Parts: sequence; structure tokens; C-alpha cells
Amino acid sequence: MAKKISKSVCLHILEQGELDDGELALISLAEKSMKKAYAPYSKFTVGASLLLKNGEMLSANNQENAAFPVGICAERVVLSYANANFPDQAPLKLAIAAQSIRDEEYSPISPCGLCRQTINEYELKFNQEIEIYMLNPSGQIFKADNISQLLPFKFNNFK
Ligand code: THU
Repeated sequence: MAKKISKSVCLHILEQGELDDGELALISLAEKSMKKAYAPYSKFTVGASLLLKNGEMLSANNQENAAFPVGICAERVVLSYANANFPDQAPLKLAIAAQSIRDEEYSPISPCGLCRQTINEYELKFNQEIEIYMLNPSGQIFKADNISQLLPFKFNNFK
């Protein structure tokens, strides 16, 4: 029989009441930042917030460009800002919220492939797992305990 490597991944489905005050504050920051996104081309606004080890909470949103590929996702804006300004503070928790300008309710969101590889970079840099909280239209939150749940066979860290 052919040999294979298998992995299983897991996402927790949480209700707001299962989150602590800090996690709720982080999610609310992602929602606030989403509303300030610069997304005139896709009209899909994304907010991301990040808790650092020193307790600092940062947030950012997607920044689009008329030359479409120049645009950058909310997650990479906030992670880059964090590492540029707090290079010795490990990121612990990342929250993401998204909404299409046409819709009243939130859109389901899970980080794109580039953002997953970026999250992985900072897990490796700090040897610290990053929890990822993804808001859903129902109000439920999908939580990944670390980037391996979203990116199991990654480029530079096959574990
Ligand atoms: N976007 C994010 O900000 N984060 C993601 O994880 C996926 C997509 C942005 C990029 C673009 O500005 C818009 O959403 C539509 O793809």
C-alpha cells in the first residue's frame, strides 16, 4: 500500500458568551477597524486586530489599490505594523471581521493563503502559537488554536 502522511485539523465554534472580556474587546476592535477599510474596488471590507504579549492591542484593515495586486489584506497590514513597531512582542491572538459593503450582515472570513504564510512566519519567529478568531454572520466565532489548523503542510515548517 502507498505510504501517506495524514493530518487532521480543528476549528472551535464559539458563541460570544464563551469568550473572555479581552477576547471580546479584541473582536470589537476588528469590527471597528473593518469599518475604516479602504476597499473601493472589491467593496469587501476586512478588519484585523492583534493582541501582543505586552497586552497591547493593534488593529488595521485592507488597503486596496487601483493596480489590484498592490492591495494588501487586513491581516498582513496589522502583522507587519506589529513587527515593525514591537519587534520583541509576540503576537498571541488575531481576530478578523469582514463585510461586503452591499450586505448588512458580516461575511464569513478565513485568512487567504498569503496571510496564512505570514501568520506562520510570526509563529516561527517567536516560537509562539497565534490563536485566530474569525467572525461569522451568525455571530458565532470560529477559532483556530494556531496556524497549523489552517495551513497544515506549510512551506518552511512541515511539522
Ligand atoms: N482580504 C483581506 O483583507 N483578508 C483576507 O484574508 C482575504 C481578503 C481583502 C483583500 C481585498 O482587499 C478584499 O479583501 C477582497 O478580496
